Amino acid sequence: MKTSIVAAIAALAGLSAASPIENRQFQVSVTLWSARNITQTLSIPADRTPVQIDSNLVVTRITSPGGGFCTFVGTEGESVVIYGEDDQSLRVPQPIEWGTCGNN
Ligand SMILES: *[C@@H]1O[C@H](CO)[C@@H](O)[C@H](O)[C@H]1NC(C)=O
Repeated sequence: MKTSIVAAIAALAGLSAASPIENRQFQVSVTLWSARNITQTLSIPADRTPVQIDSNLVVTRITSPGGGFCTFVGTEGESVVIYGEDDQSLRVPQPIEWGTCGNN
C-alpha cells in the first residue's frame, strides 16, 4: 500500500518534470525595441507562465514574428498585447517588467 502511494507520487513527479521539456518546443520569439533601435530578443514559453524581464531597456516598441499571444507589462503599468505576427508601440516608453505568452 505504502509502496503504491510512493509509486503514484513518483509518477506524478515524472509527469510534471516532463512538461517543461514539452513547453520548450513552444516558445514565442519577441523583440523589445528602444528608441535608438537597441533590441532585445526574448523567447517566452507559450504556457502562460509570467516571465520576469530583467532589463533596463526603455522600450518603445514590441514586435514578434508570430507564434503566440502575449501580454507585456511595463514598469509604468502600461500593458501591450501581441497577437501573432505583430508590431505594437507603447504610449509611454518604459522598461518592460514581465510578460506572459500563450500559443493561441
Ligand atoms: C529605428 O528604426 C526605424 C525603422 O527601421 C527607423 O525609421 C528609425 O530612424 C531608427 N531610429 C534610429 C534612432 O536609428
